Amino acid sequence: MPTEAAVIEALRPVEDPEIHRSIVDLGMVKGVLVNGGHVEVLVALTTEGCPLRTEIVKRVTEAVSGLDGVAAVDVELTVMTDDERAQLAESLRGGATETGAGGHAARTNPFTDSRTRVLAISSGKGGVGKSSVTTNLAVALAQRGEDVAAIDADVWGFSMPRMLGIDRPPTVIDEVIVPPEANGVRLISMGFFAREDQPVVWRGPMLHKALEQFLTDVHWGDPKWLVIDMPPGTGDIALSMAQFLPRAEVIIVTTPQAAAQKVAQRAAYMAKKVNLSVVGVVENMSWFRGDDGKAYEIFGSGGGEELAQQLGVPLLGQIPLVSELRAGGDDGHPIVVSHPDDEASVAIRGIAEKLITDLVPKKIFRPELKII
Ligand SMILES: Nc1ncnc2c1ncn2[C@@H]1O[C@H](COP(=O)(O)OP(=O)(O)OP(=O)(O)O)[C@@H](O)[C@H]1O
Ligand SMILES: [Mg+2]
Repeated sequence: MPTEAAVIEALRPVEDPEIHRSIVDLGMVKGVLVNGGHVEVLVALTTEGCPLRTEIVKRVTEAVSGLDGVAAVDVELTVMTDDERAQLAESLRGGATETGAGGHAARTNPFTDSRTRVLAISSGKGGVGKSSVTTNLAVALAQRGEDVAAIDADVWGFSMPRMLGIDRPPTVIDEVIVPPEANGVRLISMGFFAREDQPVVWRGPMLHKALEQFLTDVHWGDPKWLVIDMPPGTGDIALSMAQFLPRAEVIIVTTPQAAAQKVAQRAAYMAKKVNLSVVGVVENMSWFRGDDGKAYEIFGSGGGEELAQQLGVPLLGQIPLVSELRAGGDDGHPIVVSHPDDEASVAIRGIAEKLITDLVPKKIFRPELKII
């Protein structure tokens, strides 16, 4: 017959699916009752109607069933009290808190000195596939086992929740926002805080504040990657981002068209002006492969390569036009998951691979090449 302590130990590796911490450490395990081979576990959910209750019950049942002598597991659910929730929120704020004026806890941006690699996916104009690239690139990184978070900073045209397959708002625990997760990527979007049928009118200072809140009021954990879908064009958001995330690496998405590439170039210069480094170019909609197997260059060719050369950065990849990519964005099944062998998926995984292995060549400064 298992002991109560053995059951707790078995539950220790079980993580809350959103918070990514042990349910024992989070204080969610309220009681264990062992009766012969029959084990009862009382679990307190963070919020009533927690959308992940089924997943939590499954994880607890699996963990306890694995113990010697356990014949049956019963999981009872309850909800944390306000005090317990406040305590949990405090512990989630943890490292991201410092005492501000007046002794109040002021939250700080966790990304200024973390090792998280921040990728800002930008473009000069809309509709070039920025959100599709951001979504699939984030998922491709997660598929490689990387810890990935994403921000949909396209405050006027948020589309990442739908593309990533997220169908529920974030859980809010005493003002700490826990981002929902799908396809291995946790996401915060302005779309969670606005109604789809109402356009959001954000002005400069409000926008700045909203972006800051994305960074400070969200329980991000310590992701290896933070991938950001930037709004098209340049302006307020780029400025705010540069200020909040000074180490962000900018990736410019463009189409093969010469005209698109000129606009993209402006986005790149803007990035440089605010001191963000552009690390690469992704060309999207590069060709369409017909049933005859031939690649048709509908939007022309060479734009990505040319832009990359002008900026002195690598062309990280070329993604073809594929209807499954569009469909996957519409129904929340990113193509890298639904059609992993498609050439678009292969191209996107190639980009992720280059970023992970850091094949992106660094600028090398050799003294003998100095221009006098
Ligand atoms: N490689 C591709 N193959 C097929 N469809 C694509 C491809 N890339 C993007 N699309 C489709 O083109 C449309 C625009 O793409 P997306 O929304 O990703 O662009 P965006 O640059 O984020 O646009 P916006 O400026 O509106 O935010 C979407 O319907 C998307 O599904
Ligand atoms: Mg978009």
